[in-house]
Amino acid sequence: MAPSMRRFVVIGQQATASDDFFLDDLPGSSGRLDVLLRCVRAALLVSHGLRRDVVVYLVLLGGRQAPRVLRFDGALAKFVRPDERSLATLVKKVLAAAGDASTPAHGFVEVKAGIAISRGGLADVIADLGRATAYILDESGPDVRDSKELGCDDIAFFVGDHRGFDDATRARLAAIGARSIRVGPVSLHAEDAIAIVSNEIDRSAVPRASHA
Ligand SMILES: C[S@@+](CC[C@H](N)C(=O)[O-])C[C@H]1O[C@@H](n2cnc3c(N)ncnc32)[C@H](O)[C@@H]1O
Repeated sequence: MAPSMRRFVVIGQQATASDDFFLDDLPGSSGRLDVLLRCVRAALLVSHGLRRDVVVYLVLLGGRQAPRVLRFDGALAKFVRPDERSLATLVKKVLAAAGDASTPAHGFVEVKAGIAISRGGLADVIADLGRATAYILDESGPDVRDSKELGCDDIAFFVGDHRGFDDATRARLAAIGARSIRVGPVSLHAEDAIAIVSNEIDRSAVPRASHA
């Protein structure tokens, strides 16, 4: 049986795809890349380690080099630290190292261990997802606790940034059959929605008797 895989795709409508942001003013200079970095932490990092079965995509749709996508693969990544400044420094280096000329128009190219970049935008992510069951984390969807599928082996969640999803993205996700699902009745920060759905999957993977 194929190993299980969780993927999170965070759409940064204005998050910068170039390295010209300031570490001392991340929210103000990066199109709210800080929101996406907190999503990386929530999806990928646990206390003292990385989730090896998680892949995170950051879709960067802002700035002069957009679109670009960063892919963090928990099975391969090294030196990913939980604090926002370290993550921002890492992303800055990756964006600087991957110049337009060296990166093909489509497909992911590894820049650092477990961190790859693509210039293809959302289309490249969708191609990379293969046969994963796709969900949209969406405040207006049915409740995650009513879903019987979260334990499935290959699952992908699309996550909005501080502005949610635009209409074009929603239409693209509908076209691939992604279904909305909510983690609760309140509109949360994106990283909190990721932490909660991760916890729901963790809980569903543990046999009931061991909760006792
Ligand atoms: C800050 S929220 C976006 C709020 C934005 N004003 C809107 O109207 O969409 C960021 C993202 O977190 C996720 N999210 C927030 N609350 C959620 C919930 N209760 N259930 C599922 N996803 C949620 C969604 O993907 C959302 O796009």
